Amino acid sequence: MGKNSKAQPTAMPSPDTPFKFTGVMACAACHSGPMFNFQFSTWRMSRHAQAYATLATAKALEIAKESGVTGDPQKREECLKCHTTGNGFAAASFLKGFDRRDGVQCEACHGPGSDYSPEAVMRDKAAALVSRLARPTAKSACHATKKLTGSNSIMTWL
Ligand code: HEC
Ligand code: HEC
Ligand code: HEC
Repeated sequence: MGKNSKAQPTAMPSPDTPFKFTGVMACAACHSGPMFNFQFSTWRMSRHAQAYATLATAKALEIAKESGVTGDPQKREECLKCHTTGNGFAAASFLKGFDRRDGVQCEACHGPGSDYSPEAVMRDKAAALVSRLARPTAKSACHATKKLTGSNSIMTWL
């Protein structure tokens, strides 16, 4: 690619990627406050931050039951794949600060951040993309399908 080529959004890498998930708190170290348009607190107040916690509610049990998913939704792949970050990646893919209870974190959409997080890389858009920063433009796979509330069974759109 020439240096003038337009940076393209990248897709989430496959689970054997060498890039690791840092967890949202590592992103928050920079992406907080007015200089960063309050990105961290905006996320914190969003339902994405609650996506794992919500799997412990009565509503979650109800949805699981309707979907034929047995057991604790917080332990079921069928639910975790959309309600957490990096589900299906090997344990070695997560740095120490990562906590899956933080739900759908920045890296669920922007990709594992170990290599693009250093400030010099972040300020260099081309370098950030090479280091696997994803710049999602379209709706994610989680939202692409039918609204949860419109269906009796999520299994039809898993
Ligand atoms: C060391 C500080 C720092 C850390 C840690 C950091 N970022 Fe950044 N990030 C920046 C800076 C600085 C920019 C560039 C802002 C600008 O150019 O206006 C940026 C830009 C971005 C952009 C926009 C890039 C573009 O091309 O438009 C995204 C998305 C992003 N960061 C996501 C993340 C995510 C996700 C994490 C955690 C995995 C993270 N950042 C961690 C400092 C950081
Ligand atoms: C394909 C992705 C996907 C899967 C798989 C998935 N969810 Fe969700 N879930 C979502 C999205 C997106 C939302 C929020 C948007 C919405 O309500 O439509 C959501 C919302 C929820 C909510 C909040 C609903 C409310 O009305 O407050 C609960 C509870 C929930 N899911 C439970 C589950 C359970 C339990 C499973 C596994 C049996 C599961 N989800 C599997 C994507 C998914
Ligand atoms: C559910 C998916 C999702 C999550 C979670 C998410 N982002 Fe984004 N982010 C996007 C999308 C999509 C865009 C592109 C928005 C646009 O073009 O209008 C974006 C754009 C950005 C940008 C570019 C500047 C801007 O405001 O448009 C930055 C910086 C950023 N995100 C940082 C973060 C950080 C930091 C977190 C976690 C605290 C985070 N994002 C969580 C999907 C997500």
